[in-house]
Amino acid sequence: MHKFTKALAAIGLAAFMSHSAMADTEKLGFLVKQPEEPWFQTEWRFADKAGKDLGFQVIKIAVPDGEKTLNAIDSLAANGAKGFVICTPDPRLGPAIMAKAKSYGLKVIAVDDQFVNAKGKPMDDVPLVMMAASKIGERQGQELYKEMKKRGWNVADTGVMAITADELDTARRRTTGSMDALKAAGFPAAQIYKVPTKSNDIPGALDAGNSLLVQHPKVKNWLILGMNDNTVLGGVRATEGQGFNAANVIGIGINGVDAVNELSKKEQTGFYGSLLPSPDVHGYKSIQMLNDWVTKGVEPPKFTEVTDVVLITRDNFKVELDKKGLGGK
Ligand code: GLA
Repeated sequence: MHKFTKALAAIGLAAFMSHSAMADTEKLGFLVKQPEEPWFQTEWRFADKAGKDLGFQVIKIAVPDGEKTLNAIDSLAANGAKGFVICTPDPRLGPAIMAKAKSYGLKVIAVDDQFVNAKGKPMDDVPLVMMAASKIGERQGQELYKEMKKRGWNVADTGVMAITADELDTARRRTTGSMDALKAAGFPAAQIYKVPTKSNDIPGALDAGNSLLVQHPKVKNWLILGMNDNTVLGGVRATEGQGFNAANVIGIGINGVDAVNELSKKEQTGFYGSLLPSPDVHGYKSIQMLNDWVTKGVEPPKFTEVTDVVLITRDNFKVELDKKGLGGK
């Protein structure tokens, strides 16, 4: 065959192959409870990247409540998806999610938040990808203590505002780790005040923070901890509303990517920094494992813990985010 014709034939074959491959491209879902959080947007972004690298399509669906979650599973099945990764809006939906997924033969990997059964026990049989909650919480407590020392605050005048969300296991483990680390460093347990938030967003945490502040009018300096950036931001906003200056407040969040706007502000606020784990790894790895499971029958481990974390502050956040490929979109 003429060289040129040969080349054309090869191109033709490639075109045909890619077309037919596209028709039955694997489809996998990625469902998240709070798509407004950059954390989950980052997971989606890196799930998409995995899809591009490994040749599958990611169907991204926001599932802020139980009804939307179950509907999303129906629509994934109708679209021919073979499985999904999910951060559930409520861990107690676990049994209903699994029952529906099984009825369609869909494989499931939980990310971030673990399912619990009707008795409130963790559903360990569902593969889970999550951050090392207790360790990252401890780091939050250690960093708060360190910054307090650096500022030379009088401990007697200082209180800890601990905004909790104990019904979510990962949250409970983070805030418990944080408080334990503060106590271990020598912070008086009696000056650690807990308040639960009604919702995992800034307005919920703001209300929680306000109600706590009015109960402790003598405290001059506040350390603020919570399970993620929005929780801590709500607490910081509460202190601002009640007349505290940035110099008298140290808040350290968790998630990092949700703190970018705050850390970019011209003036320093009470939000000192955030612990940045790896939303990129959560997004990429969870769906990569699902793809291996669906296409090659490789069962994912029941538990994948993502441990690395870095403290970002106004001084280093740009560099640290860039290092992970999380800087500007
Ligand atoms: C929970 C929180 C999110 C994020 C993830 C990380 O789902 O609600 O903000 O911190 O955990 O695993």
